[in-house]
Amino acid sequence: MREHDLEVVADGEALARKAAGYVTRIAGEAIAARGQFSIGLPGGSTPRALFKRLASPAWASRIDWARVHVFWGDERCVPPDHAESNYRLARETLLDRVPLPPEHSHRIAGELAPAEAARRYEAELRAFFAGGEPATPQPRFDLLLLGMGEDGHTASLFPGTAALREMARWTVENYVPRLDSWRVTLTIPAINAAAHALFLVSGAAKAETLRAVLHGPRQPEIYPAQLIRPQAGRLLWLVDRAATTRL
Ligand code: 6PG
Repeated sequence: MREHDLEVVADGEALARKAAGYVTRIAGEAIAARGQFSIGLPGGSTPRALFKRLASPAWASRIDWARVHVFWGDERCVPPDHAESNYRLARETLLDRVPLPPEHSHRIAGELAPAEAARRYEAELRAFFAGGEPATPQPRFDLLLLGMGEDGHTASLFPGTAALREMARWTVENYVPRLDSWRVTLTIPAINAAAHALFLVSGAAKAETLRAVLHGPRQPEIYPAQLIRPQAGRLLWLVDRAATTRL
């Protein structure tokens, strides 16, 4: 891992502030270049502070939300108002507080059967990124925000699960035995097609996993986050100091 791909900040709040700077910068560049900005959001707890900051008066005006399209890197197979819903987290902390056109929020339909939710999301991605052409290589998100679990998963690509081996589809349903639950997730090739992939990792609990992922032997079945390497894009790990104590 080239050192300049890793940026260390003091704590969770600094992480949210620095990440908000990246989001607004990349959004401005994409909108200036192509008139729109496509971003994929993660779930979990780490992005909450970032979402709140982006929705704050000091930050919300820095993005032309009318030109933004919001997607998700993954979703739990639950209804959109469920406490576990990644969509609900983003809606409550960010989307309901900024002037994003409702039709620019492209959620994964967690309320549907997993396979149908994955199929519909892939169709929506193809319609957005490729005009629906089936032959299009991959969805090129301007920015994909990613988290990393203590077990080394990212999005809903969990260790030892079937989704790790999907190299053709952009979105798949994925049963996670450890959680005894279904997820829908972007696949490795879909994530690696992004122009920018930005990991947000915070807290001492992830320090050993971060070491193993960045400096340990390549074991992607055990540490799926090691599979994230944008082919023609930029990968940045934005981490707080507590997460770097084992590096
Ligand atoms: C999800 C996320 C997942 C998350 C990691 C880290 O649906 O849970 O997309 O990949 O980013 O589990 O979660 P925390 O930020 O809560 O540590």
